[in-house]
This record gives sequence, structure tokens and C-alpha cells, in this order.
Amino acid sequence: MDFSPTETDLEVQRAARAYAQRVIAPRAHELSEGEIFPEAEVRGLAELGLMGVNVPSDLGGAEAGVVAYSLAMQEVAAACASTAVTMSVTNMVAEIITRFGTRDQAERHVPRLCSGEYVAGSFALSEPEAGSDPGGMRTTAKKTATGWVLDGQKQWITSGTHAGVFVVWARTGEPGTRGISCFLVEQGAKGLRIGKREDKLGLRASSTVPLAFEGCEVPDAALFGPQGGGFKIAMTALDGGRIGIASQACGIAAAALAAATDYARQRRAFDRPIGDFQAIQWMLADSRTELDAARALTLRAAWLKGRGQPFSREASMAKLFASEACNRACQKAVQVLGGYGYTREFPVERYLRDARVTTIYEGTSEIQRTVIARMLLA
Ligand code: CAA
Repeated sequence: MDFSPTETDLEVQRAARAYAQRVIAPRAHELSEGEIFPEAEVRGLAELGLMGVNVPSDLGGAEAGVVAYSLAMQEVAAACASTAVTMSVTNMVAEIITRFGTRDQAERHVPRLCSGEYVAGSFALSEPEAGSDPGGMRTTAKKTATGWVLDGQKQWITSGTHAGVFVVWARTGEPGTRGISCFLVEQGAKGLRIGKREDKLGLRASSTVPLAFEGCEVPDAALFGPQGGGFKIAMTALDGGRIGIASQACGIAAAALAAATDYARQRRAFDRPIGDFQAIQWMLADSRTELDAARALTLRAAWLKGRGQPFSREASMAKLFASEACNRACQKAVQVLGGYGYTREFPVERYLRDARVTTIYEGTSEIQRTVIARMLLA
């Protein structure tokens, strides 16, 4: 199997790395500490085509493919994980509108997502009492003469404060996964209330908000995909989204390992660099090995998706392994830096806090295991 990067993949990776290191990384600490949404950084990414990496060029995308997207995401995440999650969810929204939307829906929203005219897109699936089990959602959409009325609450909505468009799931029929439809709701829609930003452990520059739909009227043209077919759109989107989060985890882990390696070279104890001690060497070696394994799983899933082959299980395996390995790498990086690693003076404490959510969002590690095991046993 050959999933080595093409010249286009490498070009996208180089462009992402240059921008991430020159512009984003120097601001990451300030963005995180000030809880500043990375609006300027996102617009810069859009100028480079990185807000629609796997989107056709006639809709404003870079049309560079899924492997290029994963490589770019890793570079951005190594610089700032908050900017990376904004990029990841917006790419996911642009891709699913391209795939499942009507031509009118795609032409209205996708070029705006790719160009940065919309700073972000949001994915509104989870609810206060329906996270791992979105089939249990309670938000409803009721048919009217001219459209639909949405009522209910959504929770954990990434970039909700800045999104130009929200993909929103709501119940239009029977209980369970078959009674769910999907809608495109624009920022500023009457009856859509954006709640207060969550006070999170990490990803503090990314905004995460609840949404309230209170008699929110949308036209017939807002229905996205087939009526009752919303759950499958969500699952398909999340399969791709999990490649994004796996890539984000690889990026954070790479940054943590680089910081720990630099420190191990410079810091001296007992008259020698601490990198001379086997205890430190083994931590670095384990992190590097797991990072390479995480990248291989992630790029395999991206490569399969890019070829139009089934990749659901591979995306879950990549997300499961990369997110858990990323957390281990960040823990080790803090350990290598010792007391300094525990302070805001070095970035590894931010990497550790940012890493934590990667085993939770877009499907917990437990949900990824469920997906993998169900496919094994089917
Ligand atoms: N692709 C397409 N269709 C799929 C699918 C997939 N990957 N997985 C399931 N389906 C289909 C099934 O074939 C089935 O179809 P039929 O109705 O025709 O039979 C239907 O969907 C229902 O499937 P299941 O019975 O398997 O559904 P389930 O209720 O048992 O749930 C699950 C399965 C895997 C646990 C799923 O609920 C899941 O992935 N949960 C986690 C949700 C999640 O990741 N949430 C994160 C939200 S986004 C986020 O984190 C915020 C952010 O912005 C970063």
C-alpha cells in the first residue's frame, strides 16, 4: 500500500507549516490566555485555501484532497490547537454541504466558508442530554406552510459565536435515528440564541457555546439532505471529522515532543544534559514511536477517504490511538520539563490542556471502540 504524499500534499504541508510557524505559533499563548478567537489567523488560513482543503475549486476550495488536509491540520495544530479545531470543524461543514446540499445550498455557503467571509462553520448535533447518543436528541423541527420551526437546545457547539452557518440536526419524525433531519441555519436567524462561552480546561481560544432554538423559523430551502436522513449525514460527517481530530492530536503531540526534546538537550543535571539519562530517553523514544504510529493510522484513513473507499473503522482507529497517544506524549513532555513544565512559562502545559479534549469530542475513545468493535463483530 502506497499512501506517501504527492507533490500537492507536500506543497500544502509546506504552506501550512510556514504560515503556522510564522504567524500562528507566536500568538498561540496570547490567544489562549486572553480567550481570543483566532479570527485573523483563520482568515489567513482561508487565503491559503486551508478552510476548504478537500472542497472542489468551483466552490472556492483548494481541491487538494484528504491527505493534504490531514498534513495541513497537523501543522496548524502544532502551532495552536484552538485555531486547528476551528479549521477542522469548518472544513467538515464545507465538505458536508458540498456533498449533501443542493447546488443552491452549496453555492450560497461553501464559497463563503472557504474564503473566510464566514469566519467559521458550526456543527450542531450534540445536546445537553445527547452527546454520545445523538439518536436521543430532543430538538424538534415542525413543518409549517412555508418552512420549518425549530425548538430545542444544542450543546458544545464549536465556533458558535463566529459561525456564518450552522448545520443543525432536529427531530422531524419517529423516535430514534430514523426520525432526524438536518437544516442549514444562518447566523442571525430569528429565534436562534447563542449562549455564553464555556469556561474550558483547554482550547481556550476556540469558542464553545450552547445554542437555543426558540421558535426559530427557517424556509423549506433550509432542509439539508433527505427528510429523515439526517442521522446518516451526521455519521458520515463525523467519519471525516475524526480524521481531522486525529490529525489535530498528531500535531499537538509533535509540538509536545519537540519541546521536550529541546529541553532535554539544554537542561543539565548531575553535570550533563538530562537527555543523557535513560529515563528521559525512554520517554522521548516512546512518544516518537507512538507519534509515528498515530500518523500512519491517520494518513491511512485519509488516504482511504481520498480514494472513495470505506474508512469509517480506520478513522475511528486513528482518532482513538492518536488522541490517547497525544495525551501520553503531553504528560511525558510536562514530566521532562519538571517544575517548568507545570508553569505558563513553557507551552507544554497548554499542550496538555488542549490535548485532553481530543479523547472526548467528535466521539469519545469509548465510542470509537464501539464503532471498531461493532465492525469487527458484524
Ligand atoms: N456512515 C453512514 N451511516 C452510518 C454510519 C456511518 N459511519 N454509522 C451508522 N450509520 C447508519 C446505520 O447504518 C443505521 O442506518 P439504518 O437506519 O438504515 O439502519 C443508522 O445510521 C443508525 O446506526 P446505529 O444503529 O449504529 O446508531 P446508534 O444510535 O447505535 O449510534 C454510534 C452509533 C456510533 C454510537 C453513534 O451514535 C456515534 O458516533 N456517537 C458519537 C457521536 C459523536 O461523535 N458526537 C460528537 C459531536 S460533534 C463534536 O464533537 C463537536 C465539535 O464541534 C468538535
